[in-house]
Amino acid sequence: MAVAMFDYMSQPHSAMSGTIKIGHKDVKTGEMSSQVDIPMFGLGVYLMKGPGECKKAVSHAIECGYRLIDTAMAYGNESEVGEAVRESEVTRDEIFVVTKLRRPHATSYDEVIRRCQESHDNLGIGAIDLYLVHAPPEDLEVRPQVWKAMEDCLETGLVRSIGVSNYGHHHLQEMKSYARIMPAVNQIEINPWLQRPNLISATKEIGAIPMAYSPLARGHKVNDQDLAEVAKILGCTPAQAAIKWCIDSGSITIPKSSNSDRIEENFHSQSLDISSVLEYFQSMNENYISGWDPTVEP
Ligand SMILES: NC(=O)c1ccc[n+]([C@@H]2O[C@H](COP(=O)([O-])OP(=O)(O)OC[C@H]3O[C@@H](n4cnc5c(N)ncnc54)[C@H](OP(=O)(O)O)[C@@H]3O)[C@@H](O)[C@H]2O)c1
Repeated sequence: MAVAMFDYMSQPHSAMSGTIKIGHKDVKTGEMSSQVDIPMFGLGVYLMKGPGECKKAVSHAIECGYRLIDTAMAYGNESEVGEAVRESEVTRDEIFVVTKLRRPHATSYDEVIRRCQESHDNLGIGAIDLYLVHAPPEDLEVRPQVWKAMEDCLETGLVRSIGVSNYGHHHLQEMKSYARIMPAVNQIEINPWLQRPNLISATKEIGAIPMAYSPLARGHKVNDQDLAEVAKILGCTPAQAAIKWCIDSGSITIPKSSNSDRIEENFHSQSLDISSVLEYFQSMNENYISGWDPTVEP
């Protein structure tokens, strides 16, 4: 992996040929803690629960060219993701696997270490490429120790990078008071109907990369009339237009599909040029939350 170092307060990352080079810096000592290259596009596997469904989707996605898979202990399919990665003809170091610490497990230092080891074992692919706190721990008191455990998972090599998910501006700011290593990523819902320019800026300001989950608003907006018009202008499908808008917002983008054709369709969104329709997209923002939104919690 090539070296890319930066301080978390300075310019955080640079895009290069579909990947982002990212490094973490120990903010106390200034020593390098880790570095990883993160693909800008991947497959989400939430709600793939039927036996074999997740493995089949991940295997097909890897064959198509996907190089990032986003799972979570809460999705109950880490072991199928691991099987697909192990059985793939693509080498392990070319595939980037993200998983997450469940919110009900974010209760103490020891539990985080134990759960990280459990995810690591479920996946069975060596170090987890990116481990995320799924949402800000509900008990405010435990947040520093939960993050300390995440940092220690990184330093002991269980994981190769650490980050957060569903963190609002205030959660990210608060981390500056207790983090030794700031998060590499903040995974949040981002799509044309929930554009979040301020939270994207706050994420970048602390040196993290935004990761857009639910780029299709969980499928709720695939038949949106405005999106259909934009897609017609671009000569692509509505899903492709929405996904490319997310990518062009500077966010790592992880649409979910269990369907082989749609997995391919979504992959090809990466080559679209949407520059001629940006104004249409701007007018689609309506702060639509498709599922949950812990970013606004205390
Ligand atoms: N950190 C968090 O709290 C959090 C929360 C939510 C999601 N996520 C992550 O983000 C990933 C993506 O988000 P998501 O699963 O919520 O929703 P999404 O990707 O916005 O939408 C998925 C839905 O859209 C459908 N779909 C996919 N491609 C399509 C296409 N080309 N045309 C029409 N319909 C299409 C899928 O159905 P088919 O499968 O039948 O194609 C599914 O019903 C998740 O899988 C998960 O990894 C994280």
